[in-house]
Amino acid sequence: MTQQAIVFSTHSAHKLAEVQALLRGKINFLSLSDIGFHQEIPEPYETLEENAKAKVEAVYAAVNKPVFAEDTGLFVEALGGKPGVYSARYAGEPSDPEANITKLLQELEGANNRKAYFKTVICFFDGTTFHFVEGICNGTIAPQRSGTQGFGYDPVFIPEGNTLSFAEMVSEDKNKVSHRAKAFQHFMMLLEQSPSNELYAH
Ligand code: IMP
Repeated sequence: MTQQAIVFSTHSAHKLAEVQALLRGKINFLSLSDIGFHQEIPEPYETLEENAKAKVEAVYAAVNKPVFAEDTGLFVEALGGKPGVYSARYAGEPSDPEANITKLLQELEGANNRKAYFKTVICFFDGTTFHFVEGICNGTIAPQRSGTQGFGYDPVFIPEGNTLSFAEMVSEDKNKVSHRAKAFQHFMMLLEQSPSNELYAH
């Protein structure tokens, strides 16, 4: 059976690389550059679900193929869940990962409670229905940056049960425990349950 094209709606090279590694040998997908989609997609909403859906809708309207997208936030307990859905623009626009970390460390200066979690929500539109799955990774915010791998808040996020930050881990190790890895495991389960599963299978 011919494999149906499925598109991952992201302009983030970091997310694309992680998801390529997570889905390798499981699903082939097209990136936005593969399909020549270069428009910025606004993410104006207050939930990860709505932003992920907006990324899917913009691309589906252009290519009319099944599309998935993800939206991720860092939720810090002592900050009442901030920066949450606003993680990319925490220190203002344009999005600046270094400035975001600096602001986060300042806000948490002296805090005893440094618990946080990353949450990834995936939205998948199969042409008929919007499906949502998610993944969470619990951890803590370190008092200073360490490591050079990964992206975003990785230098200050230490996943539960580890002593290294995500940025000190090789990508294979981050991909064993991360929010994105868990969300994409759920995504695979969703596709396996779908009646048209073999259309997307590798
Ligand atoms: P968005 O999903 O692209 O809106 O990402 C939200 C913010 O979280 C951005 O600042 C990203 O850099 C950051 N972010 C997303 N995923 C990760 C991750 O796996 N590690 C660290 N930061 C991340």
